[in-house]
Amino acid sequence: MTVYQSNFSVGMDGWYGRGDAVTLTPGLNWLKVEGRKSSWHSPGRDFDLTEGCPYQISVQVRQDEMDSAEMMLSVAHTLDGKETYENLARAQVKRDAWTTLQCTYTPGYYEKFVLYVETVGAPEMSFEFRLFRLEAPEGSEAAQAVSQDTGAQELPSLKQVYADAFDFGCALPGYAVNRKEVRELFLEQFSILTAENEMKPDALLDVNASRKLAQEDETAAAVRLDRARPLMDFAKANGLKVHGHVLVWHSQTPEAFFHEGYDTARPLVTREVMLGRMENYIRGVFEAVEEMYPGLIVSWDVVNEAIDDGTNRLRDSNWLKTVGEDFVARAFEYARKYAPEGTLLYYNDYNTAVPGKLKGILDLLQGLLPEGNIDGYGFQMHHTVGYPSMGLITSAVEKVAALGLKMRVSELDVGIDANTEADLRRQADKYREIMRLVLRFRDAFEAVQVWGVSDPMSWRSGTFPLLFDAGLNPKPAFFAVADPAGA
Ligand code: XIL
Repeated sequence: MTVYQSNFSVGMDGWYGRGDAVTLTPGLNWLKVEGRKSSWHSPGRDFDLTEGCPYQISVQVRQDEMDSAEMMLSVAHTLDGKETYENLARAQVKRDAWTTLQCTYTPGYYEKFVLYVETVGAPEMSFEFRLFRLEAPEGSEAAQAVSQDTGAQELPSLKQVYADAFDFGCALPGYAVNRKEVRELFLEQFSILTAENEMKPDALLDVNASRKLAQEDETAAAVRLDRARPLMDFAKANGLKVHGHVLVWHSQTPEAFFHEGYDTARPLVTREVMLGRMENYIRGVFEAVEEMYPGLIVSWDVVNEAIDDGTNRLRDSNWLKTVGEDFVARAFEYARKYAPEGTLLYYNDYNTAVPGKLKGILDLLQGLLPEGNIDGYGFQMHHTVGYPSMGLITSAVEKVAALGLKMRVSELDVGIDANTEADLRRQADKYREIMRLVLRFRDAFEAVQVWGVSDPMSWRSGTFPLLFDAGLNPKPAFFAVADPAGA
């Protein structure tokens, strides 16, 4: 049985640097070892080991400074004030590959034991280690000495926690795909990806190409996927699903899209021309995606944020001005026409919990239902710990659920005033309550997606609203989401 296991998701767990300048810094679920000047400079931890007990010891190590480095698991033991050493396990550690060092070790009689990880040569090499595990045979004296709860476990995976209920996903900006630690964290935690900006109209509409085509046909709309590709390639290579965001929106959409000849100096186009452009754009997006990434996108936000916060009616946008009141219905009609079979089509909006706006959203959804082109509603949920109340959020979810639509939390984040212990706890509580609510409606929810990986990557970074901090360490909110039934 396991008598000790490190959990570097919360702090150092008793590990310290051996050697003057050695520093240990927590990563996601590992410690990074830096500042070494000597091959024995290492992370170490004191252990109370039982004489004569055959322990199984293992640890995973990683380095990215050399093609291959030899590393050892060692013990320093003290008798009569004199420290002596034994090397217990030894392995070649290839660049970027978590490698396990393991051994069986039966201690003799000593007053003190320190287990540590060192290198053979490479005295200045930095490295990371995780999952340090000590096991003793069932029934042995050492096993009996250990309390039931060894505390330490590997970090839970949100996609696994919710696998039976719905997808757990996250928005990712294109630049983040280049960061290895972000990629690894994403793949450990999330099953569905949304492009934070790279599939919006200002990313997908090729204005220059459209302007040229418009000389022949004013309804033309050319699409390019180049900004979206790094994210789509990442998703495809790793078997992630993708939620498309977004086809029709008033924001992040080139002004030229709505003007004659794609020229902002000229008037807005007629309803007929704009319907033609809308249809050609939507068709173009689906065709381009299907050609390069068949089956990758499982759902789309067809229309985003059409309801105005003040009037609770359709927002005064270029879509309303050119097409008119039925632009939402037409967008869903075209999306259904060109989307691959089975693609789920969503209307997405924010402030759903605000009663007036909720009424406007429900009216819009109700009007769309008869045509049968809408599958679901996406709650953005850009919240703070204080607002809206769980009562308002609950009532909104209940009312949307009553329409019989599928649902998703499309853009979850919960802001706090300051990055303090107290606020982090309140934040965790709010996340937990939201997850409990979503679980109550688990049959209708297709996914929960947080809007970004870590606080500094958030569009609301000043409010520290996400599940991982600047060091990609899990926050209290992460553990609340991972265990929604917890206290
Ligand atoms: C935000 C992105 O996170 C930012 O990077 C960008 O500058 C602005 O848009 N509602 C939405 C999202 O539907 O597309 C928005 O994303 C956040 C609000």
